[in-house]
Amino acid sequence: MIVRPARNILGSIRLPGDKSISHRYAMLAGIANGTTRLANFSTGADCASTLGCLRQLGCAVRRESGNVEIEGSRWQQPADSLDCGNSGSTMRMMAGLLAGQEFESYLHGDESLSRRPMARIMTPLRQMGAQISGSEGERPPLRIRGGRLHAIEYKTPVASAQVKSAVLFAGLMAEGETSVEEPFRTRDHSEQALRAFGAELSRSRSAVTIRGGQQLQAIQAVVPGDISSAAFFLCAAAIFPESNLVIENLLLNPTRSALLDVLTGLGAHLSVINLEEHHGELVGTLKIAYGALKGATIQGGQSVSLIDELPVLAAIAPYTRDGIEIQDAKELRVKESDRIALVAKNLCAMGAECEEREDGLRVPGQQRLRGAEIDSGGDHRIAMAFAVAALGAEGESRIHGAEAARISFPEFFEMLESVTER
Ligand code: S3P
Repeated sequence: MIVRPARNILGSIRLPGDKSISHRYAMLAGIANGTTRLANFSTGADCASTLGCLRQLGCAVRRESGNVEIEGSRWQQPADSLDCGNSGSTMRMMAGLLAGQEFESYLHGDESLSRRPMARIMTPLRQMGAQISGSEGERPPLRIRGGRLHAIEYKTPVASAQVKSAVLFAGLMAEGETSVEEPFRTRDHSEQALRAFGAELSRSRSAVTIRGGQQLQAIQAVVPGDISSAAFFLCAAAIFPESNLVIENLLLNPTRSALLDVLTGLGAHLSVINLEEHHGELVGTLKIAYGALKGATIQGGQSVSLIDELPVLAAIAPYTRDGIEIQDAKELRVKESDRIALVAKNLCAMGAECEEREDGLRVPGQQRLRGAEIDSGGDHRIAMAFAVAALGAEGESRIHGAEAARISFPEFFEMLESVTER
């Protein structure tokens, strides 16, 4: 994909449904009583992997573009290994639900997913009574022999919403009350979704507790626009003085919207109108207009909340005055790719200076980027982050492996073109 420099970002867009919420609604629909009807379901390949797994488990799933209907049912032992594609969310959260099923199942993924760490979910699910094993100890493919589970009180060492969700989903099927405590607050979509499907949960400070044996009921929902996809447009708009962009029906859940605080802190002008709540999720219309960008340091809990948005923030850091420093983001190294290494490599290819660290990066400001050959490493967020950086560069860039965008956002390049002025 060739990306040419832009003058401006202007217009109004609506985004496909949030990936995190789409996964959770689909999975819970699969075990709920009745037929769940979802509109604006994520168009990404990751969420299609989740739907594929549900079909393999015997659920009736009908899909017509953004509209998805799922009939909840008793899961059947799948004939083949469940294909999670590139999706860590599918593998880790499905593992939680499969831990409570009285059959054996296998889960596998593509080459990138096969490298990702799974001990983080294997440890608590084993403690609950599931038999679960991986290759080389903790890598996919996974084999899960589920059955009767007992509740645990689990203090997770990694701040990961996928881990929290796997334990809560298993807890729903366990005997007793399961609680998960996390070192930093992570996205709370599983808690909101479980409540939407009729389960009761309680939260105290850093722990969430669920009682086992609760039966879920189907819902009807419109999935809010994906804020992690919006991040690319917001960052693109933020670097051009004449920009003006409106994003409608956007997810604004406070555990996901840290990017808005960072952009505001940098100097961009953001405003929210029409704020509503649907199934516990805040949704609204967001406007962004230019303001000169200063600098930022992102660390601790903020790095956790911004984990998916860090690549694009780092990619626009050269266009700020004081640069951006990212700390405490070691998890970036075990995402779909080593995102710290790839961000550093591509910034360097564009002629920028940047300091790569074990747990983050420091990218100085006031740097001019030149168009370059970009290596996405097959990672959707790297491809999209550098498409944004390329808009502000001198000369055109070629994004290798740009088709990776289909993992979360197949419409990305077309939609970006529709709001780009040259
Ligand atoms: C997600 C949680 C995050 C995030 C991923 C989606 C989720 O992963 O990076 O894209 O939907 O729960 P971790 O749980 O590994 O932090």
